[in-house]
Order: sequence, then C-alpha cells, then structure tokens
Amino acid sequence: MKKIILTGDRPTGRLHIGHYVGSLRRRVELQNSGEYDEIFVMLADGQALTDNAENPDKVRANIIEVALDYLACGLDPEKTNIFIQTQIPQLWELTEYYMNLVTVSRLQRNPTVKNEIQMRGFETSIPVGFFTYPISQAADITAFQATTVPVGEDQEPMLEQCREIVHKFNSVYGETLVMPNILLPDNKACLRLPGTDGKAKMSKSLGNCIYLADDSDTIRKSVMSMFTDPDHLRVEDPGKTEGNPVFLYLEAFAKPEYFAEYAPEYSGLEELEAHYRRGGLGDVRVKKFLNNVLQEELAPIRARREELQKDIPHIYDILRKGSEAAREKAAETLSMVRKAMRIDYFDDTALVAEQTARYAG
Ligand code: TRP
Repeated sequence: MKKIILTGDRPTGRLHIGHYVGSLRRRVELQNSGEYDEIFVMLADGQALTDNAENPDKVRANIIEVALDYLACGLDPEKTNIFIQTQIPQLWELTEYYMNLVTVSRLQRNPTVKNEIQMRGFETSIPVGFFTYPISQAADITAFQATTVPVGEDQEPMLEQCREIVHKFNSVYGETLVMPNILLPDNKACLRLPGTDGKAKMSKSLGNCIYLADDSDTIRKSVMSMFTDPDHLRVEDPGKTEGNPVFLYLEAFAKPEYFAEYAPEYSGLEELEAHYRRGGLGDVRVKKFLNNVLQEELAPIRARREELQKDIPHIYDILRKGSEAAREKAAETLSMVRKAMRIDYFDDTALVAEQTARYAG
C-alpha cells in the first residue's frame, strides 16, 4: 500500500512558532525523509469559513500568508502538493455522503467541537457547517487515501471520528476507504507551546505569539517581556522550570550547538535548568540565551520568506498546480466511493441491461 500524508491548517492568520514546533518542522522532516509516496498539505479555507462566514476577505488574505510560511519553512512544491480546500469540490460531495453515517449525538460528544463551542460562546447558535466540520475533515483525510495524518494532539478527537467513519463506510459499502493513522509530535514540549504570557495556547487575539515572519527586534522584545516563574523574584531565589514558558521554548528549540556558542558554561539544557532551580540564575540571562536561540532558528525562515514575497504570482501558481493534483487524486477516490455506494449509474455498463432485463422478465 502507498504511504500518503494529508494534513493542513485553517488560513486565519500568519503561522507562529507554536505551529512550527507543533507541526511544520515535522512535516518538512517527513517530506525530506523520502518515506512517503505522496504528500498533501491543505489550506483549509472551507473549514476556516465555518466560523468566519462573515469574514471572507480575512480567509482570502491569509491563503497567501500561510502559503508563504509553509514554503519559508521548507515545504517543497516538488515533493508536496500544497492546495486550497475549496478548490476541490469532491471534498464537499464526500462530506455530504458521510453525513448519513454520523449521528448528531456523536458530533456533540466530539471534545474538540464541545470545547470550541464553549470558547466561541456558540452554544445552540452554532452554524451547522461548524458543527459538522469533523465530518468534512474526515472527507479531507480519506479523499487523499491518507495513511498518515501528522497533527497536534488537539486533533486527536477528529482522527478518532474519521476512523469511525471509515470503519462504518467500509462495513456498509464494502472495503473502499483507507484507515488513517495519527502521527503526533515526538517531543513533549512540542505538543503545545504556551503563549509568551504563560497562557496555555498562543493565539492572535491574546497577542502572545511569536510569528515566523516577525523581525528580529520584535522577537527580542517578545522574549525579553516573557512570563516566567512569578515567584522567582531575586536572582538568588530558586526558580521553577516546570511549566515555565522560557524553559518550554528552550526545550523545543535549543540545540547543543547553541549552548556551545551562546552559553558555553553549561553542557546543555539540564545543567541550565538545574542552576535555575537551585537559584543564582537570573531570568534576564536565560531570556537572552533564548533570544539568541530563536534568532538563529527564525532568521533563515524569515530570509526565505522575504525572497518568496518578491514573486507572489509564483506562489499562486504553486497553489494552482497543487490544487490540480489534489483534485485528480480526490476524483479517483470519489469514483470508487460512488461505485461502492451504488450511485455510479452512468459508469456501470451492466445497469441498463439489468433493468431492461427486469422489465422484460
Ligand atoms: N482542523 C485543522 C486545524 O484546525 C485543519 C484541518 C482541516 C486538517 N482538515 C484537516 C488537519 C485534515 C488535518 C487533516 O488546523
């Protein structure tokens, strides 16, 4: 069986370092591993519209922002089809068919949907399209016959629901769909990077993000004003590293060569953490080190982004070609689905003869 990757993001804003450590960095590694036969990365604009119906221009503008971030991080259109969800009509058709296989109560039990309804204050005024987006996400995954879906842990309930749909479809209509597997980030610190303010999640509305496109001055300011251990008042005081965003960021980004270059007095993160815990290491010093690390990590991404920004028509060209390839793949799956569902009327050469015989008989 072919090994196929499908994953994606809602284009509602520029991507930040949480996206980078949580998924982008891994995608690039997977892409370059050569282990996958086909890779699809989707700009989920249709899904973004499920709770942005009144803001189409926001979604439209962020298509190019996210595409630039993808390419700047190293996604390579020669190896990865980057495409736009709404340009693949088969995905919406497939969603409709899957709706017959899912109950309202099952959707209501989806923890991600439950949580997001609360966060957005939707309750019963929830748009139907938003409520059913787990079904549309199952269509996204299965249309490309994906075996592997690299996503953050917040997407676990979506994958579980997708697997249920695959199981149900195959048991009702016969073995047709490929059962996908989730691929979670391997480094614990990368499961979810907190905001610079220490809040659980980076989010644009909280203003606690470091964006991939931020200039070096903005990065430095964000790092130097980061939340740390609020009880670590004086340098001599023992500090907490657990749950301390500065150390969580270091866990996600610090490589041995950065210690050699910027903090040679420490053999690595463990020694730095031990010093902080025992007391005598000030926040400013740790933050300066983190700033150096982030500057090193983000400078090449920013430089590539600046290059890419010079030729915007080329970026749209990449997206158009990616969407064409994606449409072809989805159409292949849909013809199998229609056949399995017995709605392939004009492709089934036996149908007319069968029905003619029935009437003749
Ligand atoms: N829900 C994902 C997010 O919030 C985006 C997405 C849509 C997706 N369809 C998908 C991710 C299919 C993986 C597979 O970022």
